Order: sequence, then structure tokens, then C-alpha cells
Amino acid sequence: MIHMKWSISKQFRTIMFLLLTCCLVGCGAQKGKSSQFEEDHGLIVGFSQIGAESAWRTCNTRSVQDAAAAQGVQLVYDNAEQKQENQIKAIRSFIAYQVDVIVFVPIVTDGWDNVLQEARDAGIPVLVTDRKIEVADPSLYAGFIGTDSLKEGRNAGQFVLDTFTEKRKRFEQTKEPITIVELFGTEGSSVANGRAEGFREVLASHPEFQIIYSKSGDFLRSKGYELAVEFLDMYEDIDVIFSHNDGMTLGAIEAMEERGIRPGKDIVIVTIDAQQAAIDALREGKVNCVIECNPKTGPEIIRLAERLAAGQYIPRLQYVHEEVFYETDDLSLIEPRGY
Ligand code: AHR
Repeated sequence: MIHMKWSISKQFRTIMFLLLTCCLVGCGAQKGKSSQFEEDHGLIVGFSQIGAESAWRTCNTRSVQDAAAAQGVQLVYDNAEQKQENQIKAIRSFIAYQVDVIVFVPIVTDGWDNVLQEARDAGIPVLVTDRKIEVADPSLYAGFIGTDSLKEGRNAGQFVLDTFTEKRKRFEQTKEPITIVELFGTEGSSVANGRAEGFREVLASHPEFQIIYSKSGDFLRSKGYELAVEFLDMYEDIDVIFSHNDGMTLGAIEAMEERGIRPGKDIVIVTIDAQQAAIDALREGKVNCVIECNPKTGPEIIRLAERLAAGQYIPRLQYVHEEVFYETDDLSLIEPRGY
């Protein structure tokens, strides 16, 4: 694996040079098709990751790196440190180096048309993973593999709906709403938008639920803590926290406990990711429902990259398997999460 920011090995430069030379003189090694050169030197995949904002993200990066290593695929890895402009630069470098396939996690949905057109012009297939994009011409990328964020949001909404049956029944008389705070993920990201949309969709025809606060914590634990300090100051009666990821949830739990508020008891908490710390909190009764977002997509990503490099078909849309863990489940059955 090659970290772009630190080292492009001599051998790698040579390989790039040979590839470029091969393309320039038109030796017949059409991009996207296996060639003698590829057989000798293996596949080169450029992977643009958005950063390391959460335990989930770190696991996702490791999953891709391990899968590449296991398959003998050279991974040119770039960490964009939460900036779209860095991702665009990384993708341009991958194009300049003539990698065989580009894989990237788009931090936000919009703004990819130009750079993907450049990849197409260079004949390099692109696989989008984890978060979705919107481009005028969807054929600019070969396919998507990742999480179904709309379904995650729907699962969260359904859990809330099923949890407050008594209070809902009383609403007709009391007119006392069930109040919800939402810790929103990164603004403009498909996962945050999908989770918010799915959640609202389920609760739309239930006026007894009211979202009284919704702010972005950028999927960061530190911001989850800061936002919780703010909304706990603003509101006395909060029934539910719907958090777009476990990192923000753990920050909010810390702020609640500092004030003597009992997470999972005084306020119902539903959270997304299912990292080990959230499952532990579920076991301790500090969280009520954990919705899995599966980060272990590396093996499938590398398999798809290999197919693309061989000029083969890949599915346009592939969701990974994800579960929901409820406080009422037999929690002893949950395997160690690994992140
Ligand atoms: O895009 C997936 C989300 O990004 C995960 O839920 C979150 O933890 C991560 O940072």
C-alpha cells in the first residue's frame, strides 16, 4: 500500500512510467482490460478516503487496505482530511499516475462532475463507495457499494414509533408532543441526508412527534458533546436523541452524565454505526437501539475493482448487509465488533 502524501516508491514510479509509456506509444494495453503488464505487476487502485473522523471510518479504511494486501493489489491511498478539494486533487493525481481503477468515498453528494469526466477521458473506471453522489451523467461512475442510509433512518424512525406507544395514545388528550433532538452528520453528505429523510418519512404522519433541534456534529464525538451541552441548556423536556453516528452519541452521553441525566432512561437514544462502544452502551442501558452501518466493505470493493479492471460488468448499486440491535434483544449474542 502506498500513502500518497508520504511516499511514492521508486518501484512505483517506474511502474507508473512504464504504464504511461505503454499508453503513450499505444502498445495496445487498453485501460480497463487485463494486459501482460498487469499480470506481471498487479492491479493498481487509487483510493480516496475522506479522513479518520470516527472509529467506523478507521475500520473502513483498514478493511480496504487489508483486502488490497490480501489480493496483492497495490493501493494508492489518500486521506482527504475532510475536504472535498483534497479528494478532487487526489483523484487528479490518480489520473496522472494512470491507476487502473479509482475508488472513492465522496464526502458530499455534489461537485464531482468535472473530475469524473477527467477520469472517463483517461479511460479509468470509478467505483463510488459508502456515500452516494449526484452527477448530471450517472454513467461517469461504474457503480456504488455501501450503506443504505435511507433504510437506517427508517429503522430509527420505526424504533421511536414503536417505543412511545403509551405517550402517543395520550397525545390526543394531553397534546404533549414527543420531543426529538437530532444529531445530524456532515451536511451535504448522502448518508446524513438519507438518515434524516428515512427518519422523517416514518414519522411524517404522526404529529405527536416533533423534532425540536437538529444540528450537524460532522460525525465527530467532540461536536456531539458540544451540541449536547447546547441542547441540554436549551430544552428541559427531551424524549429522544436520534444520532447519525455513534461518535456523536458517545459525546452526547458524556455531556448528559456530567449533568446527572441518565442516558437511555431519562432520554431514549437511537444511534447508527454499531461500533463496540455503542454496543457496550446498549448493554449498560445507556443506549436503546443501535443500527448497524457496516464498514467492512474492503473485500467486496477490491473484488469489484478487479472486475472493472478486467472490463467486466459490476452492479450499479450494491448495499451491504446491516442489522439492528435493540435493548430487548439477547445482547450476549452480539459478536465483538472489531471497531
Ligand atoms: O458515511 C458513513 C458515516 O461516516 C458513519 O456513520 C460515520 O461514523 C462516518 O464517519
